[in-house]
Amino acid sequence: MYRATVLLVSLCITWQVALSVTDGLLPNGDFEYGPKPSEMKGTVVIAKNAIPNWEISGFIEYIKSGHKQGDMLLVVPDGAYAVRLGNEASIKQKVKVTQGEFYSLTFNVARTCAQEEKLNLSVSPNSEPRDWGILPMQTMYSSNGWDAYAWAFHADGPEVEISIHNPGVEEDAACGPLVDSVALKLLSNPKRARDNLLKNGNFEEGPYMFPNTDWGVLIPPHIEDDQCPLPGWIVDSLKAVKYIDREHFTVPEGKRAVELIAGKESAISQTVKTIINKIYVLTFYVGDTSNSCVGSMVVEVYAGKDRTQVPYESNGKGGFKRAKFVFKAVSNHTRITFLSSFYTMKSDNSGSLCGPVLDDVKLVRVRNPRRHL
Ligand SMILES: *[C@@H]1O[C@H](CO)[C@@H](O)[C@H](O)[C@H]1NC(C)=O
Ligand SMILES: *[C@@H]1O[C@H](CO)[C@@H](O)[C@H](O)[C@H]1NC(C)=O
Repeated sequence: MYRATVLLVSLCITWQVALSVTDGLLPNGDFEYGPKPSEMKGTVVIAKNAIPNWEISGFIEYIKSGHKQGDMLLVVPDGAYAVRLGNEASIKQKVKVTQGEFYSLTFNVARTCAQEEKLNLSVSPNSEPRDWGILPMQTMYSSNGWDAYAWAFHADGPEVEISIHNPGVEEDAACGPLVDSVALKLLSNPKRARDNLLKNGNFEEGPYMFPNTDWGVLIPPHIEDDQCPLPGWIVDSLKAVKYIDREHFTVPEGKRAVELIAGKESAISQTVKTIINKIYVLTFYVGDTSNSCVGSMVVEVYAGKDRTQVPYESNGKGGFKRAKFVFKAVSNHTRITFLSSFYTMKSDNSGSLCGPVLDDVKLVRVRNPRRHL
């Protein structure tokens, strides 16, 4: 009897041990290891530590891919299982991190009910009070119902507890987002290249991307996440921008780029030190993702209050062109902002939003302005 208790206790301890992840899925981040039948009532998980590596609370369901809900078939992107966060539900996991570094979490989410759904992301310890992110899930951008979101945080201790929480309280306690594939990435702080005043201008540094999903990763706006998962940049708009990879989209340069998916509601910016009255040249690629995003697009670029528009005619097959914007600095600091003037929808009848791709943004000060004007 005594030995059995000891064994049980040590098993619980191993589940609680934090593991260190720098670039990839969290332990059991795809929820392939699930509860024992005795720890479930139908699909509802009834024990706090029933899902290995995770601690749960509230109304959590363990869902097998192919599970039917009304006339909806739930399909899981990674493996065969996912969790559904119902009323006041949360899933938590402790991970070892390097204190002082920035990390980004990436996870897949699908909405399962008609109403507004949101998730509350947080880590503890956290030196900033009230520093959590409420990510609304009401606008879905991918064609199959699943979207990936990124959320960044600063590690304020050698071990942090990551929490994903559905703050909703609905009449139907089960109503809430399905969550799958939770991954973590240590973000490096990219240095400015010698030929570029912008940091991470080619967007190569950013959140973890799942190799087996083709819907990119949404980077929420600053108001929802004050640490941007795209180092150097700020998403200073109401809606997210989409981070895309070469494996699944047309990317003009390198392996990553950004798609401006929500018209004027998704903007990305970076502020640089400038010298008043000097001339600067900003160059960048504008293109399309080769993902049935067809139409006349315009990328709007601001340097402080100076503005230009770059038209791009997309046939949805993945082209791009180089654009150039010359401006004179009128301040010690200039904010460079990119947004899409129009809303575009994919031509595949999915109703999902899409837009122009931005990549390889370079800013230089020129000594011989006449050559550029
Ligand atoms: C978000 O989660 C944190 C940590 O669990 C909690 O303190 C906070 O109250 C939550 N915020 C909302 C709006 O639910
Ligand atoms: C720009 O910098 C100079 C020198 O540091 C300073 O005197 C000036 O007030 C600054 N101007 C603005 C508009 O910030």
